[in-house]
Amino acid sequence: KNIVVLISGSGSNLQAMIDACQNGTIHDTRIAAVISNKADAYGLERARLAGIDTVHLAVSDYSDRDAYDRAMAEKIDAFQPDLVILAGFMRILSHEFVSHYLGRMLNVHPSLLPKYTGLHTHQRAIEAGDKEHGTSVHFVTEELDGGPVILQAKVPVFDNDTVEDVTARVQQQEHRIYPLVANWFLQDRLSMVDEGAVFDGQKL
Ligand code: GRF
Repeated sequence: KNIVVLISGSGSNLQAMIDACQNGTIHDTRIAAVISNKADAYGLERARLAGIDTVHLAVSDYSDRDAYDRAMAEKIDAFQPDLVILAGFMRILSHEFVSHYLGRMLNVHPSLLPKYTGLHTHQRAIEAGDKEHGTSVHFVTEELDGGPVILQAKVPVFDNDTVEDVTARVQQQEHRIYPLVANWFLQDRLSMVDEGAVFDGQKL
């Protein structure tokens, strides 16, 4: 099977996928391509180092979101992926794009959804005095960070934690659970039915 990964930045979750494909955590799968909206995303370098095709699509080359997303879908579909993985891809997706990949596109969001959709989740958890925070892997639907949650990992938040402390703790968990979920999907154990996630025949 094969996957396409969309990134905008550091790509540490991409790296976790690369490693998982190499060490067998994800079986019989290759990352066909990595696509970024940012030319300087370090994730592109990680992809090159792993011998993976990279594509940079500059937002400024397209008249609007629909045109950009259409071009991106064309690039993605050329690789015929079984699964599309959002790994720190920092753009809102058009309706058309989301519906084209509905049920075969995953995202990782750094909060215990439905808490803290959107940005600055770590800061918001700290400011709220949460003792517990975490990350969620979910199917991507029309609603921003609102698709069915598949798996979450919790981390503690300690009294004097900085945003950096919490980010590091959360990302460590993302790197563990995201490849796991991708593998479930690729092994046909996971699907989206009626906007709900189904794992091994059980509604989650
Ligand atoms: C991750 O923490 C993820 O939850 C969020 O963006 C971050 C991407 O980090 N969607 P990286 O580029 O994978 O290092």
